[in-house]
Amino acid sequence: MHEPVMVAEVLEHLAPARGGVFVDCTVGYGGHARAVLEAGASRLIALDRDPAALADAAVGLAAFGDRVTLVHADYRRLDAVLDELGIDGVDGLLADLGVSSMQLDGPGRGFSFRRDEPLDMRMDPTTGPTAAEAISDADEKTLADVIYEFGEERHSRRIARAITGARQRSPVSTTGQLAEIVRRAVPRKGYSRIDPATRTFQAIRIWVNRELEELDVFLTQAVRRLRPGGRLVIISFHSLEDRIVKHTLRALQAAGDVELTIRTKRPVVPGEVEANRNPRARSAKLRAAECAA
Ligand SMILES: C[S@@+](CC[C@H](N)C(=O)[O-])C[C@H]1O[C@@H](n2cnc3c(N)ncnc32)[C@H](O)[C@@H]1O
Repeated sequence: MHEPVMVAEVLEHLAPARGGVFVDCTVGYGGHARAVLEAGASRLIALDRDPAALADAAVGLAAFGDRVTLVHADYRRLDAVLDELGIDGVDGLLADLGVSSMQLDGPGRGFSFRRDEPLDMRMDPTTGPTAAEAISDADEKTLADVIYEFGEERHSRRIARAITGARQRSPVSTTGQLAEIVRRAVPRKGYSRIDPATRTFQAIRIWVNRELEELDVFLTQAVRRLRPGGRLVIISFHSLEDRIVKHTLRALQAAGDVELTIRTKRPVVPGEVEANRNPRARSAKLRAAECAA
């Protein structure tokens, strides 16, 4: 099961009890969406790029009937989606970035080194290259840069060299193959708590799904859609992602075409009880902004 993070904090900053039109840009399994609807949102537009997540959300949110509109879309197409639905302004937008527990741990998605299966890693399996295809096409420097930047992996060069060496012998096509290549490439010392493949798998996932690309474009679209008094809430799980959110909100505030108040001077993080209960929540950072009434 995917447990939604910081639900109380999301409701506090999104304030759906005001009623109105809300957008959940990453509906996933619908945990936040359900809370937002139960708190009083009149209508929810729910986007996800993963058709499997949307199918589950459709079941979980069926009781809310036509208050919910589910759309298979990348949130970077927010403007086009809202235009197609004839919606100009919204009262609140939520984005809970990254991957869900079901994507990471579920079978057949190729995100995890805990099972051996085809190395896919696409959140939207209907489009774009798989991780296996991306790895087979990239040069060694690109792989090293990806693993260093998105995985903060200090052994990135060794790992990239090991991958390009291995793929000369046979294609790297399964999660098990990739994990073994990484484990053999890095010195054992210094990795007491996590599997040596963890950072590389995270990096390849962020790269294949272009998770940091055009996040600023999405945030700009989101802020410009806010009605007076409208709220924006973003939860990120990676320091690079949080940095983009922080800087883009500040830049949009400075640009002044929307009168924006940043409600969170520092990011909101989960309380101790939640962090202990839900390990995925530990790296979560929530930032919120509000358009002047
Ligand atoms: C952390 S989960 C969201 C969980 C959700 N808040 C819940 O309560 O179940 C992130 C979701 O965002 C989706 N996602 C990630 N990037 C996306 C993008 N660019 N456009 C649309 N959906 C995206 C993923 O497919 C995944 O289902």
